[in-house]
Amino acid sequence: MSCASGILTGFKDGKPFTPYVPTLALPPHLERVLDFGCGLGRNFPYLKSISRQITGFDLPEMIERCRVLAPDPIDTLSSDWAEVRTGRFDLIFASLVLQPMEEAACAAALADLPAWPP
Ligand SMILES: C[S@@+](CC[C@H](N)C(=O)[O-])C[C@H]1O[C@@H](n2cnc3c(N)ncnc32)[C@H](O)[C@@H]1O
Repeated sequence: MSCASGILTGFKDGKPFTPYVPTLALPPHLERVLDFGCGLGRNFPYLKSISRQITGFDLPEMIERCRVLAPDPIDTLSSDWAEVRTGRFDLIFASLVLQPMEEAACAAALADLPAWPP
C-alpha cells in the first residue's frame, strides 16, 4: 500500500498566504539564500526581502510547477542537486520540508546540504 500526504494551504488557489515570520534574528542583508524544498515559491517574497540572490531547489515535478505558479521570480530555480549543492549560501532555508521526512532521510538530507566553508 502506498501513502501520500500533503498540506492543503489553499495557496495555489489564491488564498492569501501569511508570510514566514522569523523566530531567529537573521542578518538583514544576505547575499545568497537557498530555499531547500521551495515548493511553489510562496516564501520567495520574504526571502527576496532579506537576500540579494535566491536559489530555489525542489524535486523536478515541483520545480516545473513553481516555474508557472511562483508569485515572484527568483534568480535560479533548479532540481539539479548535484549542481545546487556546489553553491555557496549565507543561509539555507527549509520551510515544512524536513518535518515530514523519516528520521534517516532527514539526517541524510541535512548531511548533504552545502557546507560553508566547503
Ligand atoms: C509542504 S511543502 C513546503 C514547500 C515550501 N517550502 C513552503 O513552505 O511553501 C514540502 C516541499 O518539500 C519538497 N521535498 C520533499 N522532499 C524533498 C527532498 N528530498 N529534496 C527537496 N525537496 C523535497 C516537496 O517536493 C515540497 O515541495
